[in-house]
Order: sequence, then structure tokens, then C-alpha cells
Amino acid sequence: MPASRAMVRHIADLFSDRAKLMKGSDIRELLKLTQQKDMISFAGGLPNPQAFPVVEIQEICNDILSKNAYYALQYGATEGNQKLRELLIKRHVEKDGMKAEGNAILITSGSQQGLDLMGRVFLNKDDVVLVEAPSFTGAIGAFRTYRPTIEGIWMDENGMRMDVLRETIKHVRNHGGNIKFLYTIPTFHNPAGTSMSLARRKELLEIAHEHDIIIIEDDPYGELRFTDETFPTLKSMDKDNRVVYLGTFSKTLVPGFRCAWAFGPEEIINKMAIAKQSADLCTNTFTQAVAYEYMFRGYIDKHLNNIRALYKQKAEVMINAMKKYFPEEAKYNVPKGGMFVWVRLPKDINVRDMVPRAIQEKIAYVPGDAFYTTGEGKNCMRLNYTNASDEQIEEGIKRLGKIMKEELAKTKTANHTAPPPASV
Ligand SMILES: Cc1ncc(COP(=O)(O)O)c(C=O)c1O
Repeated sequence: MPASRAMVRHIADLFSDRAKLMKGSDIRELLKLTQQKDMISFAGGLPNPQAFPVVEIQEICNDILSKNAYYALQYGATEGNQKLRELLIKRHVEKDGMKAEGNAILITSGSQQGLDLMGRVFLNKDDVVLVEAPSFTGAIGAFRTYRPTIEGIWMDENGMRMDVLRETIKHVRNHGGNIKFLYTIPTFHNPAGTSMSLARRKELLEIAHEHDIIIIEDDPYGELRFTDETFPTLKSMDKDNRVVYLGTFSKTLVPGFRCAWAFGPEEIINKMAIAKQSADLCTNTFTQAVAYEYMFRGYIDKHLNNIRALYKQKAEVMINAMKKYFPEEAKYNVPKGGMFVWVRLPKDINVRDMVPRAIQEKIAYVPGDAFYTTGEGKNCMRLNYTNASDEQIEEGIKRLGKIMKEELAKTKTANHTAPPPASV
């Protein structure tokens, strides 16, 4: 056997314990399926490409390449483009009332990198991380690499439940656990679609103060609101400077730029910048320059208004179709912003069992258990409404409704014909 073949057999044994723990994301696997012809995908959290401001980006790229190419194509500072960083801070101070003092900002290659860097700088094996249950799979995956214990805190329609949070902190501390941070998506949650109420936001900060816990506030969707109801960011209410705020251009401009930022206590951000040096040296300098110009030329707010209107309309198309085609047993939130509807079916339905039928019908969604660390959520699914066309949404929901009804009928028959429990 050739030497190269003999080596291949051992590669898996050579992977680090850390790499062995890495698991491909369900969503990425599903996204591969969505490339199939005729597939209607509600699976990814993809913005609508028709809303990409291609003309403005082209104009800016031309200007940069003709006037500033040598700077924009060179390596940059790990912390990021200085002008972009200053503009982002100014926007947060003016729009959200965040405080610049004591905080610093780091441009990252997507918020996903911000999550990974937080894991890198804080987590030792068996440290404890608190997350909402359900939570963003990308965050769970990023933290898991550092081998912490991840504790899920139940949510309801007002976000993370504070009674459960208090209980969990008590339980963890009583068992000697070392809580390193709490991760939350307070506004237009992925996947739950809900937002944390103001009262809960205040209470969360009080609890964090009382127990001295760092908070990661992940906010990719906060600007995508469909109503006049606004929520202050946790960072804007962060009196004792314990919140690391993660923002991104992925959902508000384009995800392909891989341009995002972490804004938080100087000591944390400086450490993240050092960790970033060994990860990728710096974020894409060209897209940072484009993002800066996009904001500086005042295009961003007009664009945000356009995508808010588009996504609001798409959410309505999906909800109207759900009212028409879904069985009454399916429960869901009506989105006030963001990109997702979270659907709950009766407990005895496992939505993974429906996946082969869904693929046959050329429909993709993400099964709910992908968003839990404990195998919960088997009866739930996340649907994205921003990417598909209106016609696809209507047709896709119709097909999904049919599959749900078939599945419900199967479980009803099974329950009907099952023998009575032995103890009766
Ligand atoms: C809650 C949440 N955080 C972070 C990310 C990652 O965003 P980025 O494209 O900035 O890496 C996503 C992407 O879907 C997300 O939903």
C-alpha cells in the first residue's frame, strides 16, 4: 500500500481532542441541500440577495480602487480600520445611547469570529457558559470547541426566563461551577423570533451585577424591526461595564463582507485582539473600507428602511400562508422583526422524521433540536422568511402544512392503536 494511504488511516486519531469535538452544523448541511434545483429553502438565515445594494457597492468599490487602492488592499491593523471603528462607536453612542468610556471596539471576521474569540479568551475545560434554550447553533458550536459545560436557560415569549436563570446560577455555584459568561440574543432572537422585554433586560443586568457575570449581547437582528416598538440594547443600560456587544453588517448590508464588530470593556477587547492576531491577523481590509464608505455616505439608513419593509412584507406572506395551510396544532410567533418564525408542534411529533418527506417535496427547514444542547426541541422547527420569493413561501408552506398533517395523522393512528400502558 502506498505510504500516503497508510497515513490517511491515522489522521482521525491524530486530531486534537478539541477538533474531535467539532461537529458540522446541521444548518450548513441543510444549506448544501438547498442548492438542489427547485428546492424551496426556509433553512438558512440568508438575507434576500435582491436587497443587496449592488449599485452603491459598485460605486464605492470603483472610488476606492481609483483613489485609495494601496491602503484598501494592504494588510490592516488587527483592531480594524480606524475610521470604521470610530464611526461605529459614534453611531452606537448617538443611536443607542451606549457609552464609549472604558470600552473599545474590534472589527471581526463576522460576529461568528467574535463568539469564537470570546470562547478562546475565557473558556477552560469545564467552565460554565449560560445560553438561552434554544440558542444560535453557531454560538453553541464556537463555545463547545473550548469544552465548557453549556447550561440552557428556558425562554418564553418575553425572552430568557429570569427565575430559571437565578435557579441555574444557584445550582451551578452550589456545585462549584465557574460561570465565565452568559450569551444572549435579546432582540429578534435566532431561532425563537421573540425579544426580551424591558423588565427582563433590567433584571438580567441586575442578576449579572449581583453574581458578577459577563454578558455577550449578540445583536445581528436588532435593526430589522417591523413595528415602532424598540428595545434598548443591554449595552446601552450596562452601568458596570460587563456587556460585550456583537454587531454585524451581515444582515443589515451583506454577509459576504464578513465584517462585524465587538464593542465592550477595553480589557476584554484588547485580549480578543491578541487572540485574533493568531487567528487571521486582520479582518478583510477591502470590505472594511467599503463598509466605512457605505456608512459615511449615509446609505445605510435608507437601505435599512428598504429591507425592513421587504422583510416585514415577507413575514406577512409566510404568516398568512401558515394560517391557511398549517394544521391548528402548529403554534408559532408572529414576527415583529428579524428573520425567523419558530414553529412548535405537539410533543409527540419529531420533525426530523419529517425531513425525508420534506426533501422529497423539495422543502428545507431546520429541526428545532439543532438549537439545544440537550436534545430538546424535537417537535419544533425554525423557518426563515427573508430569502425565498413570495410564491415560494406560499407554495413551500402549503407543502409543509401537508406534511405536518400527514405526520399528525400518523401519530394519532399510532396512539389510537397502541396497547394501553401496562400499569393500567
Ligand atoms: C445570532 C447570530 N449571531 C451571529 C451570527 C453570525 O453572523 P456573522 O455573519 O456576522 O458571522 C448569526 C448568523 O446567522 C446569528 O444568527
